[in-house]
Amino acid sequence: MPDRAALVTGASSGIGLAIARMLGEEGHGLTVAARRPEKLAEAVTRLRDAGFEVEEVAGNMAEEADVQRIVAAHRERWGRLDVLVNNAGVGVGAAVADTVTKRIDMQLDVNVRAIILFYRECADLLRATGAEHRNALVINLSSISGKGGAGWLAVYAATKAAVVGWTQSMNKELGADGIKSVALCPGFVDTPMTEFIREHVKPEDMISPEDIAEAVRFLLRTSPNCVVPEIVFHQPGEPNL
Ligand SMILES: NC(=O)c1ccc[n+]([C@@H]2O[C@H](COP(=O)([O-])OP(=O)(O)OC[C@H]3O[C@@H](n4cnc5c(N)ncnc54)[C@H](OP(=O)(O)O)[C@@H]3O)[C@@H](O)[C@H]2O)c1
Repeated sequence: MPDRAALVTGASSGIGLAIARMLGEEGHGLTVAARRPEKLAEAVTRLRDAGFEVEEVAGNMAEEADVQRIVAAHRERWGRLDVLVNNAGVGVGAAVADTVTKRIDMQLDVNVRAIILFYRECADLLRATGAEHRNALVINLSSISGKGGAGWLAVYAATKAAVVGWTQSMNKELGADGIKSVALCPGFVDTPMTEFIREHVKPEDMISPEDIAEAVRFLLRTSPNCVVPEIVFHQPGEPNL
């Protein structure tokens, strides 16, 4: 049984899968969660083939009961939480005049509300590891649009700005308990989410998911006295997501 454990949401592809793989390499037992069960199962097969111990829970982050079920499964399997990665996210482009209420709600629920719920459900586990080694880590996926806004993706950008604000608040509230929160704010990363822009920005010009995972690996190694509240990633040229 690994002596550290991590929970990664949106781990079935892209950034979440790369971070899960890195955390496995770093000796963590993994709980991985995402919406579509078949896609998640494929990712889990790859992680298990790499030799990692994995708990798999499909669920919709927009549903409070699913968030609770995911955390309960993690608790049951591992009994501890060293790294929580709030990565699941969704972006729907629309001009402000055409914004559909259902899509506003979905982006708010998955990108912001779910993160708040995960903190609430995991607070006791994080406090326990924070007391043990002062390096309980929570990674929250924001975006460069959360730092500077984005026309046509304005709802998405607003949710990502909320993630930065929430992360700052969590450092103020939980930092003294040995729980560090970090907002990652990347530009375009080469994942299924950026397929829509590949005609204009070549995948090879984008940040790789592994680059993001390496940044998280660095965060695992920081001393208890070092807090990195956010990391902004640019790719050469513009525009950015
Ligand atoms: N790619 C970029 O350029 C970029 C830039 C800045 C920030 N980000 C952020 O990075 C995070 C990961 O994105 P990515 O680029 O790796 O995208 P991705 O490859 O599309 O992965 C998104 C992951 O989130 C899951 N997910 C989406 N909606 C969900 C829901 N309602 N419930 C549960 N799981 C859900 C997906 O599962 P399903 O496929 O089953 O839905 C998938 O595992 C997101 O928060 C995104 O906003 C991405």
